[in-house]
Amino acid sequence: MPLLATAPIPGGGALRLFRDGEHYVIKLDDGTDLMSTRQHGSEEALAELACARIAARAQARVLVGGLGLGYTLGAALRHVRDDAEVAVAELVPGVIEWNRDLLGDFAGQPLRDARTRVHAGDVAALLRTRQAWDAILLDVDNGPDGLTRDGNSRLYDAAGLRDAHASLRPQGVLAVWSAYPAPTFTQRLKHAGFAAEEMPVRALGKRGMRHRIWLATRA
Ligand SMILES: C[S@@+](CC[C@H](N)C(=O)[O-])C[C@H]1O[C@@H](n2cnc3c(N)ncnc32)[C@H](O)[C@@H]1O
Repeated sequence: MPLLATAPIPGGGALRLFRDGEHYVIKLDDGTDLMSTRQHGSEEALAELACARIAARAQARVLVGGLGLGYTLGAALRHVRDDAEVAVAELVPGVIEWNRDLLGDFAGQPLRDARTRVHAGDVAALLRTRQAWDAILLDVDNGPDGLTRDGNSRLYDAAGLRDAHASLRPQGVLAVWSAYPAPTFTQRLKHAGFAAEEMPVRALGKRGMRHRIWLATRA
């Protein structure tokens, strides 16, 4: 696969963008795939499931962390009203650039939507500012128990979940994507004050890799 670009990760390491035939793959330093344009069903399901619960709200505010290939952001934009705001927090500036040019068409150019706000930085830091969101959609890593970046553990621990809870409007939804099981995560969400459920999803409609989504509502 030809290497097209390398993007430094603030704090260390880099992401690499490869062409894969008609498709693109973002890989981590160790060569493992972070995301491919070939499979994105569960990333879109993350937005569809969460936004279904808040889509009727006027001037809904949705936060997506992180951008990746833009599929979760694109699906969120398709499922909220015209008066909504959808912010996306992305840690790696190069990923934002790739979505503005090479990758943008795959997810329908979500960065060009007038409702999109881009926050170049750590979504955990944004959550500590405790703004009022109707939905927070987290897909920044391989999940609560599948971390590739140490700093991201803060998002899923008790303090991080308290920040997310305090950042939601009443009946707001925290949705979390994971590639792996995380047996204690539902309980952690409940301890943080959420009504939580875990749902199985597939990467390609009814086929493909088995992923998980937690939907947690601020009661
Ligand atoms: C698996 S990808 C997200 C895929 C995305 N759901 C999609 O539909 O394409 C994870 C993204 O989160 C970013 N990221 C990792 N840690 C982050 C953090 N703490 N804050 C914001 N973005 C982060 C990565 O750089 C990467 O772009």
